[in-house]
Amino acid sequence: MSRIAYVNGRYLPHSDAAIHIEDRGFQFADGVYEVCEVRDGLIIDLTRHLDRLDRSLRELRMASPMAREPLKLVIREVLRRNRVRNGLFYLQVTRGVARRDHYFPAAGTLPTLTITAKSVDPQPARARYETGIKVITVPENRWDRVDIKTVGLLPNVLVKQQAKDAGAQDAIFVDTAGKVTEAASSNVWIVSADGVLVTRPAEHGILRGVTRTTVLDVAASLSVPVEEREFTVEEMLAAREVFLTSATGSCVPVVAVDGRTIANGHPGSVAAALRGAFLHIAEKTPI
Ligand code: PDD
Repeated sequence: MSRIAYVNGRYLPHSDAAIHIEDRGFQFADGVYEVCEVRDGLIIDLTRHLDRLDRSLRELRMASPMAREPLKLVIREVLRRNRVRNGLFYLQVTRGVARRDHYFPAAGTLPTLTITAKSVDPQPARARYETGIKVITVPENRWDRVDIKTVGLLPNVLVKQQAKDAGAQDAIFVDTAGKVTEAASSNVWIVSADGVLVTRPAEHGILRGVTRTTVLDVAASLSVPVEEREFTVEEMLAAREVFLTSATGSCVPVVAVDGRTIANGHPGSVAAALRGAFLHIAEKTPI
């Protein structure tokens, strides 16, 4: 079956889906995006993803390409046309096509909206939950507005590849004060020696992950004590558990950081419990 992509009002074969070379996303990374998980034919946390999309657009003074209800219809249509039961959709909005100029284009320039969807085999993710992953730490070198989900991901791309080259699977950014910010494409959590779930406040230095927000709800439902506060690399190395959250992997256990084993080197029970209850708590929208 051939994949179908949505591009500015048209459903096109994936291989024919294209945008103009003077699209602001291509020229300036002048665009925002969302990645949203689909599980067993249910879209996970759609409202929170679309709320964050609206916020990203507002922060960049970018026009919304479509009202919420028609946008939801298009998302579901893309998922249906690609017969996705388990996988994700990817949605991107840019400031549109205009002759290259750093100033915003003329008022009325239409934003570019593209949506793709793909099926993802859940088996490799399950394997990661069983074995855990290894990560490296890297100096934070991104701009100050990582709270906006822009397509400008070059630092993230470079450190992810650096992790791969080092035999690890992911990289965790650390700020100049030695505090953990987030991973290349996920938020970071630790379970402290006294059993408290700790994650950095989302006010500064990280993207407010939708999965992060829902995991906070899950923790409350399971009465797991939570502290939203900054933590150091040393604290992470001494933690009982370390794990990462994102729409493409809820609570992925980390078993080694910079070659040093976390706890006994096996995925922990808190991450597993949160993952187990996640789908009960998350919003689920049928395709
Ligand atoms: N990344 N931090 C960063 C830098 C991210 O790129 C992401 C998501 C997250 C977690 O956000 P959420 O829980 O809403 O997925 C945190 C997506 C999955 C990506 O770029 O593919």
